[in-house]
Amino acid sequence: MARQIFVTTALPYANGPFHIGHIMEYIQADIWVRFQRMQGHTLHFVGADDAHGAPIMLKAEEQGIPPQELVRRIAADRPRYLTGFHLSFDHWYTTDSAENTELSQEIYRRLQAAGLIYQKRVEQFYDPVKGMFLPDRYIKGECPSCHSKDQYGDACEVCSSVYAPTDLIEPYSTLSGARPELRSSEHFFFRLSDPQCVAFLAAWLDAPGRLQVQVVNKAREWLTGQGEQRLGDWDISRDAPYFGIPIPDAPGKYFYVWLDAPVGYLAALKSYFDSGQARARGEPRSFAEFLAAPDTEQIHFIGKDIIYFHTLFWPAMLRFAGPPFRVPDHVYVHGFINVSGEKMSKSRGTGISPLRYLELGMNAEWLRYYLAAKLNASVEDLDFNPEDFLARINSDLVGKYVNIASRAANFISRHFGGRLRYAEEESLRAQAGQLAARVAELYAGREFARAMREVMAEADRINQQFDARQPWLLAKEPARHGELQEVCSRALYGFKLLTVLLAPVLPQVAARAARELFGHPADFTWADAAQLPRSVGPYRHLLQRVEARQLEALLSGEPDRTAAPAPPAGTPTPATLSIDEFRRVDLRVARILSAEAAAGSDKLLRLTVDLGSEQRTIFAGIKGVYDPAALVGRLTVVVANLAPRKMKFGTSEGMVLAASGAGAGLYLLEPDAGAQPGMRIS
Ligand code: 2FM
Ligand code: ZN
Repeated sequence: MARQIFVTTALPYANGPFHIGHIMEYIQADIWVRFQRMQGHTLHFVGADDAHGAPIMLKAEEQGIPPQELVRRIAADRPRYLTGFHLSFDHWYTTDSAENTELSQEIYRRLQAAGLIYQKRVEQFYDPVKGMFLPDRYIKGECPSCHSKDQYGDACEVCSSVYAPTDLIEPYSTLSGARPELRSSEHFFFRLSDPQCVAFLAAWLDAPGRLQVQVVNKAREWLTGQGEQRLGDWDISRDAPYFGIPIPDAPGKYFYVWLDAPVGYLAALKSYFDSGQARARGEPRSFAEFLAAPDTEQIHFIGKDIIYFHTLFWPAMLRFAGPPFRVPDHVYVHGFINVSGEKMSKSRGTGISPLRYLELGMNAEWLRYYLAAKLNASVEDLDFNPEDFLARINSDLVGKYVNIASRAANFISRHFGGRLRYAEEESLRAQAGQLAARVAELYAGREFARAMREVMAEADRINQQFDARQPWLLAKEPARHGELQEVCSRALYGFKLLTVLLAPVLPQVAARAARELFGHPADFTWADAAQLPRSVGPYRHLLQRVEARQLEALLSGEPDRTAAPAPPAGTPTPATLSIDEFRRVDLRVARILSAEAAAGSDKLLRLTVDLGSEQRTIFAGIKGVYDPAALVGRLTVVVANLAPRKMKFGTSEGMVLAASGAGAGLYLLEPDAGAQPGMRIS
């Protein structure tokens, strides 16, 4: 029976571009979705921007635009990532939509009717200058324990003590600098502590196989916690000014962003259904019919930082709102991605920029494979390590997998007009079937790393068998060409099998191999693993190797100057910049005090520069272009307020400016005589 599955990934805040953590989650979900589609199941895979909340409102204000405009600009940027990384969302939407307003208000009304909403006055800090209540993160002051200045409203970064914003000494608003006043206002609460909610959640958490064990344990701790830890009722309202959805019959009150965000999953699905896109993909039912159907499954992929919302608030909201809403069947939680062992900041998203990855022309399928080779069903973090990345792509994907096709197909094209012939078909098919079944189980259970290991072990076997028969010698003896054809046919069936098994991870390579090599009119489905191909077309190169300098360029944040693709003719110049935006870039004259090759890098020089008031270390991608000795003593121009960038060679504390064009040349900037280190450039 075909399963009917509705899949989502966590909705990213619409106040910045995707970072590598987002892309990792989408790739994880996408691999799973593609695998299930290959099994013949029906998947509706949707995402959306999480548009509401104070940070987005304030950021828009800072930029002098309405929040809707900020959200629109962010949304306009999403497709290039989604297509760039081959993410097969059926629909991408926004929580700032009519559907979300309607659904959020509807769910709220039903919770109200169920007696689960109440009002209570709450005292909170208010910024009298800004005219708004302040979320904790916008209040700072002196730590009540260690007396460090400028600590956040909830915890001290110096001594780690945790407190309420009202405990801060000399509190101030980070928005206006004003001293906040305590004011009270009416808030709306969801009565999560209600015995029927607690009983429902306890049972929901306990359903076998619904959640990962670590996740159940975490959620159960919150549910049954005592004292401070006790699961409290949930404050779901915010006062104007707020960018959000109005609470019905409560002028000036808005839903807290975390109430309408998960409802955004349903809003995205509804918009996908109502716009006719679901129907165009063969789904005959309406949104409500699909949602209410007993065999529909609802699955959310999320990161470990938002377990609380997805395993307590969200299921309870859905359960007590009632049909057609359904509780999630699974919430699949993943850990964070670190880069070379270093934690990534969720808001700043340091480490690897996905956009940069694409702009450097790096292949999205490399990253998909690398992540697949590291992902499993646990909540543990994973590490992006450049050396490991290079080895896995070049030795696994190119060296083992693609290599099979290039070697075997050439013999078949040259000597047999593309025709394949097998000695014993049944045993080949049976072995393939067993492997495909093992790998399917691993994909279904999100054990992608183990699936990749199975696939690569098979690639090793295929290569060994091929080499053991020494086809290059067989080719020289016309009398043994029958054998040659058989050896190569077997290898090519092996390659087809691997391609089917890798298709969820490498959709583009699989699609090309299906059409070009095997003359298969459509994309492979899982059942194709058991079909022996009868002929192959000529082999055309399927996958490039990664080069170390590409990874260096990715991690250094500097342009990959040695390989910069010439900008295509007619590349638009960047959008205009306001003078204020330009002034934020701190350009300074600097004198190069020393220059040497960065050990282990074939493109970076390590420079020490004098900025007048201080010295900095800067790594510049100019090795091979400039002789280090000739640089010492020269003046140049650096960006002095670039965030320091940790690289495997050390930390780079700025960027040296150089000119480059479509050709190979690279030209360091130098001011006219008389300029002094530290002078500002404007
Ligand atoms: O943590 C976040 O980035 C939230 N924007 C996730 C929301 S997920 C869902 F509830 F919408
Ligand atoms: Zn402190």
